[in-house]
Amino acid sequence: MEKVLSVENLSIRFAGRAGDITVVDDVSFDLSVGGSLVIAGESGSGKSMVCQALLGIVPGAAKVTGTRIDWRGRDLLTLGMQDWRAIRGAEIAMIFQDPTAALNPLITVEHQISDVVCAHRRCSRQEARARAIEVLGLAGFPEPAHRMKSYPSELSGGLRQRVAIALALAASPSLIIADEATTNLDVSIQAQIVTLLRRLKDELGLALIFVTHDLGLAAEIGGDLLVMYAGHAVERGPVRQVLSDPCHPYTRGLLRCAPTLRSSRANPLVPIPGQAPRPGSIGAGSPFRSRCPVVVDGICEISRPGWTAAGPGHAVACHRFARDGREGLR
Ligand SMILES: Nc1ncnc2c1ncn2[C@@H]1O[C@H](COP(=O)(O)OP(=O)(O)OP(=O)(O)O)[C@@H](O)[C@H]1O
Ligand SMILES: [Mg+2]
Repeated sequence: MEKVLSVENLSIRFAGRAGDITVVDDVSFDLSVGGSLVIAGESGSGKSMVCQALLGIVPGAAKVTGTRIDWRGRDLLTLGMQDWRAIRGAEIAMIFQDPTAALNPLITVEHQISDVVCAHRRCSRQEARARAIEVLGLAGFPEPAHRMKSYPSELSGGLRQRVAIALALAASPSLIIADEATTNLDVSIQAQIVTLLRRLKDELGLALIFVTHDLGLAAEIGGDLLVMYAGHAVERGPVRQVLSDPCHPYTRGLLRCAPTLRSSRANPLVPIPGQAPRPGSIGAGSPFRSRCPVVVDGICEISRPGWTAAGPGHAVACHRFARDGREGLR
């Protein structure tokens, strides 16, 4: 499959009082044209930071380094402000968790979308309006020609997120990044938005990066899964493969504490004990060691695990798995 994006050894650091604090550490992944990647992991694991690096919108204090972030033959790590303006929105677009924050409350839906269209291509107001109707239709916004005269506050949360999706589609990007885009929505609306994103990906040939805490939604999106823990990638592979045969103790823990219809008193959720380490406190060892039930004494404390193959396209960064395979995880 032809790659559209290839992230090699991405790291992001903030300056702290006692030196740099690394919040994303040596993360690599690929995305094929029209493919999808789900990034999952608990709060603070660095998912949003990775997304922000792909749009050149990390906070000013952050230092982004890496071997290369190849986007269709260009290295995003070397772009200047002018280059970013040409890529952001036009080639790579983002849908945020909170559509209210992404939309201007004082401007109608029609004008917000038309403005984005006009910012990226020369066109008349008439053409921009037609494009606004088109993308709202693609995003499943009902009666777009009529209802796009609404202000964001006149719409439900689900419709606002559809407007945010239409805004992301306005300049025909090749990659859409949805950072927890369904987290604030009711479950039924969440399912509609996930179905919509999957359909848009298939019909428009868009590549999709979908960030979530919810492994059930990850399975719905499909494609590849990257599991992050405390700024590190710990497991990666085809979503269904990783979820049916998780090989990192953290992924296994995440699945055991994810509610399902089968959760009950007899089949209780098992929380992962303890808390994720603070960024900057991990040192050289395995990032999961302080909570890991299958630590390898003398190794996990001192050395960062490399990748071990667990199946076709499936790899795990775990000393225990590298040494004892699946048997060692029980
Ligand atoms: N401006 C900042 N200055 C310093 N540290 C920051 C800043 N922004 C984020 N961080 C730190 O970077 C780490 C990763 O944050 P990030 O927002 O990427 O996590 P996340 O996986 O998206 O979490 P969530 O699921 O809660 O959205 C966190 O430890 C966070 O505290
Ligand atoms: Mg986030």
